[in-house]
Amino acid sequence: MKEECVIYHTSSAEETVDLGRQLGEFLTRGDVISLAGELGSGKTWFTKGVGLGLGIARHMVITSPSFSLVNEYEGRHTLFHLDAYRLESLADFLMGRSLARNLARLQA
Ligand SMILES: Nc1ncnc2c1ncn2[C@@H]1O[C@H](COP(=O)(O)OP(=O)(O)OP(=O)(O)O)[C@@H](O)[C@H]1O
Ligand SMILES: [Mg+2]
Repeated sequence: MKEECVIYHTSSAEETVDLGRQLGEFLTRGDVISLAGELGSGKTWFTKGVGLGLGIARHMVITSPSFSLVNEYEGRHTLFHLDAYRLESLADFLMGRSLARNLARLQA
């Protein structure tokens, strides 16, 4: 399969949110998005936009899951937002019980 790389530039937090929203509108159950970037590079704002695209209410404040490990939001599909760099083991990954339940459902 041919790999393609598309680069988008945003120049404000709102533009970053809007880019995330456009992606979020296309997402379907089981899709995984990996965000790689330095501290403060806009990952959380992009995720806020993904949430909007998934129909997650605007008043739901999407924050960095740095302390909670996994944050979960109900929209058109459930959004699991996690800080993967903090996952030291699969056990950690499955710590959020509803995440484990949903992964099991995906595999079924
Ligand atoms: N395209 C942009 N141009 C300028 N500032 C931006 C842009 N996108 C986001 N920001 C701003 O950058 C700051 C950091 O964004 P954000 O919190 O999303 O980063 P992060 O990658 O999640 O950081 P961390 O790794 O610390 O969680 C915010 O204050 C946000 O308003
Ligand atoms: Mg963040």
